[in-house]
Amino acid sequence: MKKIAVLPGDGIGPEVTQQAVKALKAVAEIYGHDFKFEEGLIGAAAIDATGDPFPQATEDLCKSSDAILFGAIGDPKYDNDPSAKIRPEQGLLRMRKELGLFGNIRPLTTYEALADISPLKNHVVQGVDFVVFRELTGGIYFGEPRGRSENGETAFDTCVYSKSEVRRIAKLAFEAARQRSGKLTLVDKANVLASSRLWRETVTEMAKDYPQVELDFMFVDNAAMKIIQNPAFFDVVLTENMFGDILTDEASVISGSLGLSPSASVGDGISLFEPIHGSYPQVANQNKANPVGAILSAAMLLNYAFDMNEEAKQIEEAVAKSIEQGYCTEDLIPISVGTERGYSTSEVGDFIIAQLKVKAEA
Ligand code: IPM
Ligand code: MN
Repeated sequence: MKKIAVLPGDGIGPEVTQQAVKALKAVAEIYGHDFKFEEGLIGAAAIDATGDPFPQATEDLCKSSDAILFGAIGDPKYDNDPSAKIRPEQGLLRMRKELGLFGNIRPLTTYEALADISPLKNHVVQGVDFVVFRELTGGIYFGEPRGRSENGETAFDTCVYSKSEVRRIAKLAFEAARQRSGKLTLVDKANVLASSRLWRETVTEMAKDYPQVELDFMFVDNAAMKIIQNPAFFDVVLTENMFGDILTDEASVISGSLGLSPSASVGDGISLFEPIHGSYPQVANQNKANPVGAILSAAMLLNYAFDMNEEAKQIEEAVAKSIEQGYCTEDLIPISVGTERGYSTSEVGDFIIAQLKVKAEA
């Protein structure tokens, strides 16, 4: 039996997570696995219920599970109140830190059927397939000191990294590069930041142990440009926390929608899987959100946490099929073949599951 902690969170989190759970249940049925799902509170939903965005009960649940499936976090009532002391995002950051999730893996896949809705030209999007390794528990997100001066006129954050923090995420990226095309790009701002120079030094030292991997360096401003101009250049990208946050939102639109991208957060122990999109409160509870990012996160869970590679591949293929056939939510509607409106969140989920079952019976 494998226990999966399910943390739906805020906004569209619950409805997309529900589709991902459905897909995992279908996989369990088809392949004869025993998955047990247990829900926990996080984010604004947890603040409303307990006053704490990452309650102890949720932490305990995570620590006693084999993997975590997470939805999204964030609520406009906090976004518009910069003085709020307790914020939903603190729940996510604390969870990452408490569970030691130092590596965030964000793959970007493109689908031929979506080439026309990508904001980039067809020939630029062709064949784009890269993965970003974002450091997740260090840098300016967590560095001390942080805060306000006494008179309130100045505010400060600190970007701090140790070599050991760089090494452990770099190791994951080098290993991925070795298994893929053998190309690794470190994205930094070493012309300005001391922390970036530490990254370059550390990663350069490590490159000796990976003679099969060709390492290059790119400044983050240049990388932001290149992601739009020639995204096919990239294969494995390694970068620090905040640069990775920004670049992966940018990269995700290449495929056509932020709603398509999954992610895995890994560390020494348990791993967590979540779509990279946020809580998108504008469409919450309307059954309109794209469940593909969440469903592909479930596929990453099978792959990374349970080593169920065939099962993961079946989900990815079912998703690709749904996109090819135009079973898409409204964010992807311009390509939906023969449909005037987008399909709903649950309809897309149902189609993907039906595909899994058809495939299994064939
Ligand atoms: C992400 C999100 C989070 C981050 C926020 C919600 C704190 O944008 O997972 O990319 O900045 O890491
Ligand atoms: Mn982000």
